Amino acid sequence: MPPKKKEKKAKEVNETTKNDKNTKKSNFSCCKIVSAIVAVAVAVLFYKFYNSYLVTPELPKFDLNVWWGSSSTKTQDKSIRPFRIVFTDSMQENLRRKFEAERRATATKSLEETSHFGMNSDVVGQIFAHWRFKYKYGRRANELNKLNHYKTNIQGLDIHFIRVEPENTKNVKVLPILLLHGWPSSVRDFYDIIPLLTTPRPNYDFVFEVIVPSLPGFTFSQASRKPGLTTYQMAIILRNLMERIGHKQFYVHGGDFGHIIGSHMATLFPDQVLGFHSSTPINLSKLAHLTIMLGSICPKCIAKDLADRIYPYSDKLKFYLDESGYLHLQSTKPDTLGIVLQDSPLGLGVYIIEKYLLFTNPANKYTLDGGLNAFNNTDLLDNVLMYWSTGSITTSLRLFKEFINNYEMEETLARIPTSVPTWGLRTKHDIIQQPDFILRWKYPNLVGTTNLDDGGHFAAFEKPVEVSDDIFKAVKSFFS
Ligand SMILES: *[C@@H]1O[C@H](CO)[C@@H](O)[C@H](O)[C@H]1NC(C)=O
Ligand SMILES: *[C@@H]1O[C@H](CO)[C@@H](O)[C@H](O)[C@H]1NC(C)=O
Repeated sequence: MPPKKKEKKAKEVNETTKNDKNTKKSNFSCCKIVSAIVAVAVAVLFYKFYNSYLVTPELPKFDLNVWWGSSSTKTQDKSIRPFRIVFTDSMQENLRRKFEAERRATATKSLEETSHFGMNSDVVGQIFAHWRFKYKYGRRANELNKLNHYKTNIQGLDIHFIRVEPENTKNVKVLPILLLHGWPSSVRDFYDIIPLLTTPRPNYDFVFEVIVPSLPGFTFSQASRKPGLTTYQMAIILRNLMERIGHKQFYVHGGDFGHIIGSHMATLFPDQVLGFHSSTPINLSKLAHLTIMLGSICPKCIAKDLADRIYPYSDKLKFYLDESGYLHLQSTKPDTLGIVLQDSPLGLGVYIIEKYLLFTNPANKYTLDGGLNAFNNTDLLDNVLMYWSTGSITTSLRLFKEFINNYEMEETLARIPTSVPTWGLRTKHDIIQQPDFILRWKYPNLVGTTNLDDGGHFAAFEKPVEVSDDIFKAVKSFFS
C-alpha cells in the first residue's frame, strides 16, 4: 500500500510542474482576454452613454384620444358648461366639527428656538386661527367665482378651467395663453396675474385671452380611473382642451409640473404651441444633470452669473436630501398618504403651506415664522380649500408616482429638442436652476432668459407683476 501512495505523490508533483508551465503561457493569453473584455466593456459603456445621453431619440407616437374615464361610460358630452365653486354647508359643518376635535386634542409644542423639525407649532396655530376665525367661506367663494369657470369633458374626464377674455381690445391682437400650475398649487396661483395679462399695456400691440385649467386629478378636474395619466398624457389632454375651446394655436406658460407639461406640449405639438414661457426653466435629461454635477469643478465655467445660485453643489445636494422626503413618499405611496391628509383639514393645510413657505425661500426654515408672515393667509387657504373641498389631494399626489413609473419616456422626451420659441424666467430662490447653454439643448430656439433678483418657486403667485411683465416681453420677442 505505502509505495502506491508515493507513486501518486510523484505523479501529482509531475502534474503541478506541467501546470506551472501552462499558467505562464496562459498568463499571456489571459492578459489578452482581460484587455479584450475591458475594451468591449468600455465600448459598451460608451455606446450606452452615447445612446442614453447624446443621441436624440425619435419622437414617439402617442394615441391622442386615450379614454381616461370609467370604462362603462364611453359617450362624450362635448359641451362647455359654466361652473361655480361652492364651499357647501355640509363641508363647513364637517370642518367645524373636525376643528373642535382638533382644538381639544393636546397640541405638540415645537422644540424651543427651532423651526426646522417641520412646521413650527406657533405657525400652525396662526394658520389654524386664521382658518377658524377669519376665513369667510361664502365671501371667498364669491370672490373666486368672479372669474368665469367652465367644465368640459376631454377623453372621458371633466376638465375644469377658467377663461378670461380681455375687455378692451381696440387696436390690439388677442393672443390665447394657457397657464399651467403644478403641485401643490391650483388655479388659485394665477388669480392675481390674470388681470395683468388681459389688460392692454403701452408699447404692446397685443393682449392675452387667458385659459387656466386645473390639471386632471387636481381640485376641480376629474381624476383618471386608469393608471398612466402622467405629464405627457396631461399635455395631450390640455392640447385637446384648447382645441375644444377653439384655439388651434396658442401660447403656454408653466411652472413646476406646469413647466414639464408645457415643455411636453411644445415637444409634441410644435405647430400648435406658438411660444413657451417657463418659470421653472430646467432640462430633465441625464446629460443636463451630469453637466451640472461636473460643473462643481469650475462653477463659473458652467454657470457664469448663476454660479452662486447653483453651487456649491454639495449644499444643493444637502438641501435636496433634507427636503425631498415628501417626494419619496408621494411617488411610492400616494394613496396611503392621501388618506391621512384628507382626514385632517389642518394637517392638509400645514402640509401644503409648508411647501409654499419653504420653496419660496429655503432660508425660511431658519426663521421662526417659517416665512408665513410674508404671505396673505387667506390666499394660501383658498388653495388649501380647493383641495379640501374636492377631496382631491390623493389624486393629485398620484402624479408623482405616475411620473416615476413612466420616467423613461419622460427622459426620452426631455432629449428631443423643440423648435418652439421659448423664454425662461429664473427666480432667485428657485430650487433647481440651469444655465442657458443647457436649456438650449432642449430649446434651441431659446429667445431669452430673465434672472429675477427675488422670488421663489411659486413665481406667478408670489410675483404676478414681474411674471406678467416677463410674459409680455417674451411674447413680443417671439414675434421679432
Ligand atoms: C389677503 O387677501 C385677501 C383676498 O385676496 C384680501 O381680501 C385681503 O385684504 C388680504 N389681506 C391682507 C392683509 O392683505
Ligand atoms: C436636455 O439636454 C438634452 C441633451 O442631453 C437635450 O437633448 C434635451 O432636449 C434637454 N431637455 C430639456 C428638458 O431641456
